[in-house]
Amino acid sequence: MLPEKLANKIHQRKTENALRTLGTSLPLTDFSSNDYLGFSKSEQLFNAAHAYLAANNIKHNGAAGSRLLSGNHSLYPKLEHMLSEFHNSEAALIFNSGYDANIGLFSSLPQRGDVVLYDEHIHASIRDGISMSHAKAYKFKHNNLTHLGELLKRYQQSDTIYVVTESVFSMDGDSPDLVQLSNLCKTYQAYLIIDEAHAIGILGNNGSGLVQATGLEQHVFARLVTYGKALGCHGAAVLGSKALKQYLINFSRSFIYTTALPPHSLAAIQAAYQELPSHIKRAQLHENIKHFKKDHFGCASLMMTRN
Ligand SMILES: Cc1ncc(COP(=O)(O)O)c(C=O)c1O
Repeated sequence: MLPEKLANKIHQRKTENALRTLGTSLPLTDFSSNDYLGFSKSEQLFNAAHAYLAANNIKHNGAAGSRLLSGNHSLYPKLEHMLSEFHNSEAALIFNSGYDANIGLFSSLPQRGDVVLYDEHIHASIRDGISMSHAKAYKFKHNNLTHLGELLKRYQQSDTIYVVTESVFSMDGDSPDLVQLSNLCKTYQAYLIIDEAHAIGILGNNGSGLVQATGLEQHVFARLVTYGKALGCHGAAVLGSKALKQYLINFSRSFIYTTALPPHSLAAIQAAYQELPSHIKRAQLHENIKHFKKDHFGCASLMMTRN
């Protein structure tokens, strides 16, 4: 039996017809997942990941510890080097998931006396991370740079200001004006962090994301890319300076106190990146988005390619 307060919360969910339950996936046409390019079901990618493991003479599954202890498999530095080159970033640091990465970033970066300004539609993982920090946080209206500008002005005396948003919002498929956003942050010397979870694989040259598409790599303090969406596997990376990477390795608790991803997860990420440049389904996806927006539901978030 649950304690009464918890049972009441479940009861309330039921009466509001909002109870969450787990289902198994059925062989239906997929209009709801984040598998935008169909990578998660690709046998070719599965085989490519296995071939990569074989080429590196890896014949085991285990990660066996935190990356700071025994879990930093030899594939990690290789993959992080590839990521920093692909994303034109000084450094990359792999986390176990996008949720872990956001929790780790936002609980460790903002300090007491700092302020975080975040888009009101920002992902739960960022909100959760912020709530674990000692900084004050204020939301700005969705994609509204005028409102953000007012807040930046109001809090400009804070020690450090962080601004965080997403480059593509999952529910509406819309994006902020990154160039103007970056200029605004420069004016107030604010540190800009962009979550590219829904842009990676989809936008920019070779699916490298919206920050690269707008040439803002050197103007963004940190980028988050996740691998559970268009790349069809699991994990995430924070892209930024070597100094940021060093800081996160030392202070990001969701990086430090967890078992590292196993080699086959790293091989799956590697295989998905190898597939990105040539991937024909990206063009098909953009056609589908246009089609749904124009002819059917007027809804940008219906982004699907698989039949
Ligand atoms: C914007 C955004 N950031 C982070 C995450 C978390 O990523 P992951 O699924 O890898 O934990 C999600 C997942 O829904 C997301 O939409």
